[in-house]
Amino acid sequence: MSTPAEHREALPHGWRLVVLPEVDSTNEELRRRRDSEPGEGLCISAAIQTAGRGRRGRAWSSPTGNLYVSVRLAQPARLGDGAQLSFVTAVALSDAVLEVAPHLTPRLKWPNDVLLSGAKLSGILLETDGPWIILGCGVNVAWAPESTGATYPATSLRAEGAMVAVDEFRLVFLRHLSGLVDLWRRSGFAPILAAWKSRAQGLGGTITARLQSGEEYSGIFVDLDADGALMLQTDAGRRRILAGDVFFPAV
Ligand code: BTN
Repeated sequence: MSTPAEHREALPHGWRLVVLPEVDSTNEELRRRRDSEPGEGLCISAAIQTAGRGRRGRAWSSPTGNLYVSVRLAQPARLGDGAQLSFVTAVALSDAVLEVAPHLTPRLKWPNDVLLSGAKLSGILLETDGPWIILGCGVNVAWAPESTGATYPATSLRAEGAMVAVDEFRLVFLRHLSGLVDLWRRSGFAPILAAWKSRAQGLGGTITARLQSGEEYSGIFVDLDADGALMLQTDAGRRRILAGDVFFPAV
């Protein structure tokens, strides 16, 4: 199904939405359409993913009732800046949650998970495709998978008392995303980082960071630097962590 009229009106200017009943992965489908439907702003969503993928090679459980959407954006001029889009997206997701459920308090877990009540609501997977960035988001609208592959629990908007339809949440999110991408392009990363930090989970507290190599470091989460890297004060000094998973002490 491609963009119905009511969605087209509500979509950000120039963006196109294709909603499929089922696909392997919306990121993969966007990649397949690189030549047939070129350009920025193509969004692919599906009711079900049969091979949804998460960060670090994990699978992303994708039953019907949750949101799976991927957006194609142009790579920024400085290629390294593309990773900043995962922070842009996390802030957009949390803004969308606040719009549909103002009673909730979304927090952001480095680098880009949205948490509600300390549990994972959504995940973001950024991939590159030639000159494009594919920004894939999964949001637990109706269901929280039993196991996210992560070592902490998951929740859903419904479980937190927010009864919103997938179609509505998708449009609200895409609108916030487009607005924040514009802000990021106009004003740089600083305002995005400031918004991210204002909702950060664990900033100033003790955390453990596990690197892709499996090495773990514990210390105080003192700040993010200007690139979004996590600054950890350990007993052995300050470490700058560019990629990894973060764990909070049990309370
Ligand atoms: C994570 O591991 O936290 C990231 C999960 C990203 C899942 C989304 S769902 C839409 C898009 N398509 C995929 O196959 N993955 C992303």
